[in-house]
Amino acid sequence: MLEIERLRTHFFTSRGVAPAVDDVTITIPPKSIVGVVGESGCGKSVTALSVLRLVSSPGRIVSGSIRLDGEELLTKSGSAMRAIRGDRISMIFQEPMTSLNPVYTVGRQVSEAITLHRNVSRAEARDGTVEMFRAVGIPEPEKRFKSYPHQLSGGLRQRVMIAMAMACRPELLIADEPTTALDVTTEAQILRLMKELETAFGASIMLITHNLGVVAEMCDYVYVMYAGRIMEQAGVFELFDNALHPYTSGLLGAIPRPGGGRRRLFNIEGMVPSLLGLPRGCRFSPRCERAVSRCHEEEPELRGVAGEHSVRCFLYGGEGGAVS
Ligand SMILES: Nc1ncnc2c1ncn2[C@@H]1O[C@H](COP(=O)(O)OP(=O)(O)OP(=O)(O)O)[C@@H](O)[C@H]1O
Ligand SMILES: [Mg+2]
Repeated sequence: MLEIERLRTHFFTSRGVAPAVDDVTITIPPKSIVGVVGESGCGKSVTALSVLRLVSSPGRIVSGSIRLDGEELLTKSGSAMRAIRGDRISMIFQEPMTSLNPVYTVGRQVSEAITLHRNVSRAEARDGTVEMFRAVGIPEPEKRFKSYPHQLSGGLRQRVMIAMAMACRPELLIADEPTTALDVTTEAQILRLMKELETAFGASIMLITHNLGVVAEMCDYVYVMYAGRIMEQAGVFELFDNALHPYTSGLLGAIPRPGGGRRRLFNIEGMVPSLLGLPRGCRFSPRCERAVSRCHEEEPELRGVAGEHSVRCFLYGGEGGAVS
């Protein structure tokens, strides 16, 4: 179980401080798939990198708490974090090339990841790797085992990354846009494997994606981010049936319809604000069709509206108190 609580990760640039992740609370219960959605630049990857403590300068985790099964990760030493990465938590990165080493074969990299974290022989790790390559749809896995990253297409490299992330059977898998580079058949295959990791091995998954179809199919619970903040959160059925925040409605309204071709997913009018010049009041107010004057002055809190559904919007008074 992962608990991210009131996390702030900011970038200290020469032009000012960019609050990329600003007071974000996300809970990923055991054996569940939790989606994080939102337009480009809203802070999804920075949230994920914060969990692994991989945010690099000028970025820094400013405050908050990140607990894995109750253990605080933010105070762990570098070596303790290295032991956790790839073992208890693994991540499928949005940019697969950044996490493969160009000078070793992909087979060696994946089997070493397995022997490093699991008590198995080299032969077993090799077999496990080939099996995993097959499971993620790599053709001729024995032959591909001996390839170097640059000898593989982007799609194959992505599959190697996914194989590496899943091979160690992590408790928590963070998947940052895991399937965007893949064709739909492979995507379906990978999503099935991720579900299996959850159901058969009891893993939890944080699934970051632009694809709301993937969210509908995979997730139990969803967080909607905008400009560093959580704007709405709810169970997946509740969110799709009863989206409250105008931003969420905008995202959902932008889902491609059958027969409509591949439309851009997100097409809400206007642009995401620069984090260095955030608007006063609600961060979405300049683009919001339903904004009233108060929205441009004050920022609403994230409030519980019903059950596990919370929203950061003045349109909904809420019966529960502020949740963060
Ligand atoms: N190295 C950096 N220096 C300065 N600011 C950064 C840096 N990396 C990220 N940011 C800031 O953090 C914000 C959030 O970035 P992040 O990568 O988390 O977005 P995202 O939601 O993952 O977007 P996408 O959907 O495009 O992957 C960016 O808008 C940017 O302002
Ligand atoms: Mg990203």
